[in-house]
Amino acid sequence: MLSLLFATNNQHKLREVREIMGNDFRILGLKDINFDSEIPETSETLSGNAAQKALFIYEKTSMDCFADDTGLEVDALQGRPGVYSARYAGEGCRFDDNIEKILRELNGIENRKARFCCVVCLIIDGKEHLFEGGVNGVITKERKGKDGFGYDPVFLPDGHHQTFAEMPAYLKNGISHRGRALFKMLRFLKEVDK
Ligand code: IMP
Repeated sequence: MLSLLFATNNQHKLREVREIMGNDFRILGLKDINFDSEIPETSETLSGNAAQKALFIYEKTSMDCFADDTGLEVDALQGRPGVYSARYAGEGCRFDDNIEKILRELNGIENRKARFCCVVCLIIDGKEHLFEGGVNGVITKERKGKDGFGYDPVFLPDGHHQTFAEMPAYLKNGISHRGRALFKMLRFLKEVDK
């Protein structure tokens, strides 16, 4: 069975990724290998950050690995927070501070269209491969639901009546930005394994 190291300390993300990748792969998180150095994330693009994180981990461990980077693009905010989604409310802020800021900025604005974009960078046998996924939706006027992480309580994907934080994990994973990027990676891994 192929083992892949996923460059994250976010246990929610790790759980999602394990569910999406299924039983054909062994997915390790950074905690599993006691890796606790800070991972640099200084690019101005999602693909740049995903590649930077994956390369950093590869150089330190020599393991087949992958990293992802996600941005939430809000139309009425000219695409913000985008690549700065993690620290939108400032360095060291919590998920809820970011949500608070978005809700404040969209207060009274009717156009609430937004999308999550995700880039996954896989490094296998020393070579880099990029996979992208996205999902369109709207930012709700208030938080709904307790599951998930990040902006999930205020993201309502198009065609659904539950936010990402209200829906069961299998439903979020089936339509999410990360799910879509990882399904492409899965197809690629199954192709090269033939
Ligand atoms: P990163 O890719 O972990 O750097 O994520 C950037 C920001 O987007 C962080 O604030 C995350 O919490 C948020 N984010 C990433 N993926 C998701 C998701 O699936 N749902 C909600 N927020 C997310």
